[in-house]
Amino acid sequence: MSNTNSSGNIAVKLLGKDFLDKYPLLFSGGTIANMLGYNIFRTLYMNLWRTKPSRVSKEYQKYADILEKDGIVVIPDFFPKEQFDAIKKEFDELYAGWSPFDFNEKDFSKRQNDFPEYFKTIAEKIVTPETPAFTEYFLKNPFINELATSVVHRKSRITPYHHFWFLQRRNLDGENVGYLHTAAYPHADVFYPTIKVFLYLNDVDESNAAYIYAKGSHKLSIKRLWFEYKLSIKYSRTKDDRVTDEELAKIGFYPESICGKANTLFISNNMGYHNRGDFSNLKPRQTAQLDFRHLETWRNTLFRNEKDIFSRLSRKFVKSFDKSLKQNKLANISNNNMS
Ligand SMILES: [Fe+2]
Repeated sequence: MSNTNSSGNIAVKLLGKDFLDKYPLLFSGGTIANMLGYNIFRTLYMNLWRTKPSRVSKEYQKYADILEKDGIVVIPDFFPKEQFDAIKKEFDELYAGWSPFDFNEKDFSKRQNDFPEYFKTIAEKIVTPETPAFTEYFLKNPFINELATSVVHRKSRITPYHHFWFLQRRNLDGENVGYLHTAAYPHADVFYPTIKVFLYLNDVDESNAAYIYAKGSHKLSIKRLWFEYKLSIKYSRTKDDRVTDEELAKIGFYPESICGKANTLFISNNMGYHNRGDFSNLKPRQTAQLDFRHLETWRNTLFRNEKDIFSRLSRKFVKSFDKSLKQNKLANISNNNMS
């Protein structure tokens, strides 16, 4: 039986391998386009239909209101004790046998190789868990999912990106080591509403890299449009989109550390300005995280669960696209083995 997938192959060739999973990036276009206001137009286009969250269940409304006002909602003691303990146990088991103090630069992942000096000092290990407590209580949490999709105004048809994330400083050499990574500088992830969720698995404060967020900075305003108009031109020239606390203060945004005990949950709209805190001691920062950026991808738009003919066709398209990617990968592996 033939195993070819010609429609999938054509789609991959025409649209590119990453078509299903890419999403609009913070800045795009050349200097002239941005001087002509390209960034302003794309920001308005991606925001005007979702400046306010959609309705949520009555019992969630007070949290949705805080999220709308501040861009972040922080909830201490989020899970019942036994649920939190079960998630933490899964975390501990997945990290058993790994020590932040053992590392070899040769084993750095691609994202670590982009910031080698930072990752020589800061140990990082990210795991994508498929464990039962994490999945049932955190990943499939109805409260989290309803708040996230209400801010982003899109139906979630596929699973959000989900991780356990361990960070720890390995030694106390040097100062301001956090600034060796661009995540230390205030930034918006994208120019439209997008949600990240963090659950602290240990106690986190300013000394072990608490998340930092400028409340209210998620809102679209003339000030923010003008600020990012200038930044888009700078980025098109220099590929540098870093901003400072001082620059943010000039437009009325003041970043603050989101400190919390273990079992503190926060839902953050990362269209707002935020950054990773720095470590001043050797205490780890252990988190469980969800990232709803998948809501902006063609994969989420096309992987429809509805029963109508268009939904069935678009779902079929995703499957044949993935099949073609898989076949290409296998073909590449066997070619490499032969050479
Ligand atoms: Fe970020």
